[in-house]
Amino acid sequence: MGLMLNLVVLFSISLFVSLGKGQSNDSVFDVTKYGAMPNTDISQALTNVWTMACGSTSQSKVLIPEGTYQLSIIKLTGPCKNHIQIQLEGILEAPINLIGEHWISFQYIDQFTLTGTGVFDGQGKVAWGKNDCAKNSKCSKLPINLRFNFITNSIVSDITSKDSKSFHVNVLGCKNLTFQHVNINAPGYSPNTDGIHITRSIGINVTNTNISTGDDCISLGDGSRQVTITNITCGPGHGISVGSLGKYVAEAPVQGVIAKNCTLINTTNGVRIKTWPSSPSFGTASDMHFEDIIMVNVSNPIIIDQKYCPWNQCDKTNPSKVKISDVSFKNIRGTAANALAVNFVCSSQFPCEDIEVADINLTYNGSGGPISSQCKNVKPIFSGIQSPPACSSPSSTAKALA
Ligand SMILES: *[C@@H]1O[C@H](CO)[C@@H](O)[C@H](O)[C@H]1NC(C)=O
Ligand SMILES: *[C@@H]1O[C@H](CO)[C@@H](O)[C@H](O)[C@H]1NC(C)=O
Ligand SMILES: *[C@@H]1O[C@H](CO)[C@@H](O)[C@H](O)[C@H]1NC(C)=O
Ligand SMILES: *[C@@H]1O[C@H](CO)[C@@H](O)[C@H](O)[C@H]1NC(C)=O
Ligand SMILES: *[C@@H]1O[C@H](CO)[C@@H](O)[C@H](O)[C@H]1NC(C)=O
Ligand SMILES: *[C@@H]1O[C@H](CO)[C@@H](O)[C@H](O)[C@H]1NC(C)=O
Ligand SMILES: *[C@@H]1O[C@H](CO)[C@@H](O)[C@H](O)[C@H]1NC(C)=O
Ligand SMILES: *[C@@H]1O[C@H](CO)[C@@H](O)[C@H](O)[C@H]1NC(C)=O
Ligand SMILES: *[C@@H]1O[C@H](CO)[C@@H](O)[C@H](O)[C@H]1NC(C)=O
Repeated sequence: MGLMLNLVVLFSISLFVSLGKGQSNDSVFDVTKYGAMPNTDISQALTNVWTMACGSTSQSKVLIPEGTYQLSIIKLTGPCKNHIQIQLEGILEAPINLIGEHWISFQYIDQFTLTGTGVFDGQGKVAWGKNDCAKNSKCSKLPINLRFNFITNSIVSDITSKDSKSFHVNVLGCKNLTFQHVNINAPGYSPNTDGIHITRSIGINVTNTNISTGDDCISLGDGSRQVTITNITCGPGHGISVGSLGKYVAEAPVQGVIAKNCTLINTTNGVRIKTWPSSPSFGTASDMHFEDIIMVNVSNPIIIDQKYCPWNQCDKTNPSKVKISDVSFKNIRGTAANALAVNFVCSSQFPCEDIEVADINLTYNGSGGPISSQCKNVKPIFSGIQSPPACSSPSSTAKALA
């Protein structure tokens, strides 16, 4: 009886405390208290919990505790009534045979935090084996692990994205979104698994993040503005890329990109700007700065490629119509895996303008000849140390410029 009474009293106190808490502090919604169990599909439970948390007038947190859970396609949509956080401590696994372009989407949320030491596991191995995009331009699309659509004033931290079937993270229409201490992992052979792809967004920061994957570590599509990338380690992968641009009509400008203090290890490219030839309409990419970058055995450490045409699936008859200007490459050092370490192939119709190249110290010790650089349709402004020597490639360019 006494015990019973104690329990009742305890219960009332905790009820009182949690009600009091609800007014001033976070409400925590632990999915396992709402029907989610390890080693089961928690899609319905997570959807229900999201709806409750998102509707909460106080700040709320959705907690996915340690354990492995299965999750099918899910869209977590705002707007929410107050700040909302998802803390992932467990492992979420995508269905192995999931098709289409979506797995998890976060959309129309302001003041959102996604955090935790957990893992979004796309289980992409089987899908990579079926990916025929290298041969088939109409190949079927595969799911992106995490989509952020129209997210504002938000933070993604600490989480891991693993073995996505396609891109790990896609950022579309976002404003003031920071990725920090994030880990992205997939094998170097996994096709089309870009780490973080950003498009039509403004004020996106990516910092203190490790990315190992089979395609670009970070890629910036059209309409990327005020993007700051710092303290990134990339490799294996295809490097940090602006583009590809100029494939579609009426693409929005890329403007205001800083990549600083990054290390690229064993990647196919280091810092790259890529645009397609025969662009259907005019576009621009400007105010882009790459600084304090270390290259370790990178195949193309510094590259502007305006004849970008992967798998030969494009029309090369006309030049690119994307105008590239106001770009700097400063204090870039380390080792190149190819002799042609600095390669500028700009558009003959819209030559690159205001390209600054300062303090480049790259070495190459393979058998492909001395380290070299190429300058097509561009007259960069050089200063400081230049290894490779400025525009030293025999196949360059005085002629092309004329
Ligand atoms: C950007 O988002 C962060 C995180 O929510 C917030 O603290 C900051 O105030 C926002 N900045 C602006 C200019 O709104
Ligand atoms: C990235 O990798 C380095 C070296 O392995 C490690 O020290 C660092 O903690 C990692 N960063 C993150 C965000 O995991
Ligand atoms: C993002 O980086 C830029 C440039 O360093 C900085 O001005 C801005 O405050 C950063 N934004 C956030 C939300 O940290
Ligand atoms: C980069 O990492 C170093 C050491 O981990 C840290 O001191 C520094 O503040 C970081 N820079 C940024 C911009 O986060
Ligand atoms: C640059 O990044 C490295 C790790 O990636 C870190 O150790 C170093 O402190 C950083 N420096 C600055 C100035 O942020
Ligand atoms: C670079 O790749 C080679 C070949 O795959 C590998 O042996 C080497 O350990 C890698 N280097 C680093 C620093 O990861
Ligand atoms: C350059 O040569 C040294 C010695 O043979 C080797 O250890 C190193 O890995 C080479 N560097 C590159 C980038 O190939
Ligand atoms: C350098 O990269 C090349 C090409 O990716 C690779 O074959 C080679 O093993 C790497 N060398 C080292 C020393 O990592
Ligand atoms: C360029 O890099 C090499 C190899 O890392 C180094 O020995 C040399 O001192 C550097 N040169 C300058 C001018 O920094």
